Amino acid sequence: MKRDFLQVTDFNESEVRETFKLALELKKKKGQILDVLRGKTVACIFHKPSLRTRISFEVGISELGGHSLYITDNEIQLGVRESIHDVAKVLSRYVGMIEIRTFSHASVEELAKYADVPIINGLTDLSHPCQIMADIQTIIEHKGKIDGMKVAYLGDGNNVCNSWLEAATVLPFDLRIGTRKETMPDKQILDKAIKAGRSKISIMEDPHEAVRNADVIYTDVWASMGQKDQAKSKADLLKEYQINSHLLAGANPSHIVMHCLPAERGREITDEVIDGPHSVVFDEAENRLHAQKAIMVKLTQWAS
Ligand code: CP
Ligand code: NVA
Repeated sequence: MKRDFLQVTDFNESEVRETFKLALELKKKKGQILDVLRGKTVACIFHKPSLRTRISFEVGISELGGHSLYITDNEIQLGVRESIHDVAKVLSRYVGMIEIRTFSHASVEELAKYADVPIINGLTDLSHPCQIMADIQTIIEHKGKIDGMKVAYLGDGNNVCNSWLEAATVLPFDLRIGTRKETMPDKQILDKAIKAGRSKISIMEDPHEAVRNADVIYTDVWASMGQKDQAKSKADLLKEYQINSHLLAGANPSHIVMHCLPAERGREITDEVIDGPHSVVFDEAENRLHAQKAIMVKLTQWAS
């Protein structure tokens, strides 16, 4: 049956864990060309800029034996030149899978509803699930497990933060979100994660409290793509949540520091921290490749 990956919770707990295992196996085979997508084309639609997502998908697709198509908004004009329904039906006749990065999450849900091939969310304003799969793979590599880890997410309650909450809905860990009332994550996603009762979830205004004894300290830009006009106001609101060595003094001494990148160095994170000995940001970036290959393998298996 065709399935999609629009949010972390589209996979159940055992599927999420199998995906991490597969990603780690695929990482050992890095550079080998496999047959999983042989004869298949994957459409990669981008309505926002990207380094990691675009390149890791394109490389991952070719390492799985497939072919990728990079499509910007100039060509398809999703829902403008023609309906999302018609785009979904037409693309499904040509390609075996669609990865999409766009603004509206609802548009991606609509695409998935009508497409006959799997859809992967490469980031929307609401969520960034591929990122969090790569991040948890990175935590497993560095800390041996995700279960029970104290993860402190500091800063804007954005798409990346929402996907952390989705992960906490299916996996058991201690997620502390250090943010302001004005920059809270999506309420529905937060309520669902709390109701699931799988993880301990705390929202803390005090960044020092969020970081106390944390194993993982995570941040992202304060103003996401499409919100750069709010950069100044978000920076004023969130300046206390900057990840710097003073703040990290309260963390577990063997903590790791993560950032999905791109970073605005000197704003949400200092150079000394992102370039310091606890930082695993480039392992995280590399793991986008392996995590997404694993997601594509799973979706291909289920669809066949
Ligand atoms: N982390 C991430 O998704 O990076 P890009 O925006 O460069 O794809
Ligand atoms: N929250 C950021 C993530 C970038 C990968 C954004 O949406 O711009």
